[in-house]
Amino acid sequence: MLHDVNAGVAVVGCGSAAPAVCLDNEALSQMVETSDEWISSRTGIRKRRLASSEDSLRSLSVQACQNALAMAGVEAADVDLILLATSTPDDLFGTASRIQFELGATKAVAFDLTAACSGFVFGLVTASQFIRTGAYKTVLLIGADVLSRWTDWSDRRTCVLFGDGAGAVVLQATEGSDRLLGFELRSDGSLNSSLNLAFQGETRSLVDGKTVTQGNFQPITMNGQEIYRFAVRRVPEVIEKALFRADRTVEQVDWLLLHQANQRILDAVGDRLSIPSHKIISNMAEYGNTSAASIPLALDEWVRTGKIQSGDTIAAAGFGAGLTWGAVIFQWGR
Ligand code: ACO
Repeated sequence: MLHDVNAGVAVVGCGSAAPAVCLDNEALSQMVETSDEWISSRTGIRKRRLASSEDSLRSLSVQACQNALAMAGVEAADVDLILLATSTPDDLFGTASRIQFELGATKAVAFDLTAACSGFVFGLVTASQFIRTGAYKTVLLIGADVLSRWTDWSDRRTCVLFGDGAGAVVLQATEGSDRLLGFELRSDGSLNSSLNLAFQGETRSLVDGKTVTQGNFQPITMNGQEIYRFAVRRVPEVIEKALFRADRTVEQVDWLLLHQANQRILDAVGDRLSIPSHKIISNMAEYGNTSAASIPLALDEWVRTGKIQSGDTIAAAGFGAGLTWGAVIFQWGR
């Protein structure tokens, strides 16, 4: 049902979930030729959570959503839209509808959105369009990934980086001032081959002259240095553009909330924007790179520990495969 056209958007609750199984750098060093020293000094990562057979993208997401709905004081039955940002669905046809069913969000339409590690930021902007046009009033946005399913556990260049998790936020139409202040989203497919989780198939003949290609997705491949250079150059740029659209200065940013890929990337982006380290949110030491989950997972920790306060201005930016990148400036709370 349509309500206020040009309604404002507020982020009113968050939640997260991570698998119980934890793998530290020491244990990884028994699997591939690496060390805690190499991993922590190059990336800032010390541990990562890994989904066991008990976990699924769906179960982690449902838990994160329940926590977010409880914080927001919103009933699942009142949610209009569920957006699941993920690259690792339980089902390629989409996992959002299963989450909708398990939450009891009976009136919500639910679908998946794929934009790799930019998924949460792309999802936040997508969700806000439905609210702004007056189409929907309450949206549940999930960022969740189980990259361990697609990690080559014999490749030390990538397996040390990734972990599993889920985070969610509740967005609502607000009659007060709009809390989503500005955004900028970008894509560049010319660099697509620097980070892939690609389908690889073999040709199979069905009948005379008619063939199909069948196969599976192959483990993650990445050109680490190229991604590093891309992130350090493009992320500050996109944050500056989003700040311009938000009519805010860098000094007005209370928190820099970047995709948790690598501490060195966070530090370099902070340096380029002259944002001091106490404003840079980082929890990758505990979780590694959880792709679409990393921003809401870190947001949830900072909100629940009382560091982020209502009205704080957050500059969030995602970047990753596609390549895709984007930033959104918003104020936390109602
Ligand atoms: N342990 C020990 N040695 C290693 C490891 C490891 N885990 N991985 C690589 N090395 C070795 C390499 O083999 C190489 O050895 P060589 O010189 O004998 O050939 C040496 O270390 C240096 O390798 P580089 O790849 O040059 O290492 P670099 O300093 O660039 O660090 C890293 C690699 C951490 C991946 C870095 O490039 C990076 O952080 N890039 C960004 C990646 C990223 O953030 N990706 C995720 C973003 S997108 C998304 O989230 C999906």
